[in-house]
Amino acid sequence: SWTTGNVIEEQVAAIREQVGDKRAICGLSGGVDSAVAAALVQKAIGSQLTCVYVDHGLMRKGETEQVEKDFVAATGVQLKVVDAEERFLKALAGVSDPEEKRKIIGREFIRVFEQAQAEIIADEGPAVEFLVQGTLYPDVVESGGGTGTANIKSHHNVGGLPEDLEFQLIEPLRKLFKDEVRMVGQELGLPEEIVQRQPFPGPGLGIRIVGEVTKERLDLLREADAIAREELTAAGLDRDIWQCPVVLLADVRSVGVQGDGRTYGHPIVLRPVSSEDAMTADWSRLPYEVLAKISTRITNEVRDVNRVVLDVTSKPPGTIEWE
Ligand code: XMP
Repeated sequence: SWTTGNVIEEQVAAIREQVGDKRAICGLSGGVDSAVAAALVQKAIGSQLTCVYVDHGLMRKGETEQVEKDFVAATGVQLKVVDAEERFLKALAGVSDPEEKRKIIGREFIRVFEQAQAEIIADEGPAVEFLVQGTLYPDVVESGGGTGTANIKSHHNVGGLPEDLEFQLIEPLRKLFKDEVRMVGQELGLPEEIVQRQPFPGPGLGIRIVGEVTKERLDLLREADAIAREELTAAGLDRDIWQCPVVLLADVRSVGVQGDGRTYGHPIVLRPVSSEDAMTADWSRLPYEVLAKISTRITNEVRDVNRVVLDVTSKPPGTIEWE
């Protein structure tokens, strides 16, 4: 019968058999899939695994710390963190076009990840033969069921894989659906914030700033996003919505009034959606009190934001993200 205990036991045995005395690398994105895949492999082969986390500076408030501290504490995994914020910001400077941003972020990610891989191989020797991937069953189906290749949707796999793959893949989640992955993660003792995390795009907040991405704008958006998340969680709504992008319209200004003064600040867009699979979506009918609380807090607490607006567009025609 299907139990998380059985899945874990089976996978641990299979991974041990597959890897033997070689070594493996796993990229962590902060998302649930890579976290659970890494935790499973860690359970199987312990210190033969090295995880890599590329901090591109586009994460939400607290997410990098979650990986660096909570995930490591929960799993004991050996983690290499690459602080690449400056590099990403430099590459993104002056760029406003969404697809251009995606391309740059994807490209830089692969470069940084490959560099980290090379460093690990230099340290650990040629025994590094395996790469762990958090591929789920729906990904396998969508990509035609191939195995042992890097043929998965690059869209959902930030910084995916180098084209000239020299690694064998370990994909311990290949038979699982998302909710099963969460259950396995829970059983493995991963932090709730990681196991229950809603989808978050690989390019991160880089595609939630309409306009050029700068450090200042990212910090501002991080604050607004943290407030929205906090209030949604406090209201017990996390399970009711699929995700809630918080978007900064950096190139738009509107007039406002705060205290005695006129302001000329930026709008923040709330984009709460309900969905089954992100292919289609509807805007979530959040309680007015929750929206009011989020709006009041963001305009009070986030400098340069004087307006909060709600996106009431379904998908189609609107996409979930604004970029
Ligand atoms: P859209 O905006 O296309 O989003 O309706 C559908 C789902 O995909 C996520 N998304 C991305 N995920 N890289 C990702 O890893 C991306 O470039 C990207 N763009 C959108 C989005 O958050 C939603 O869950």
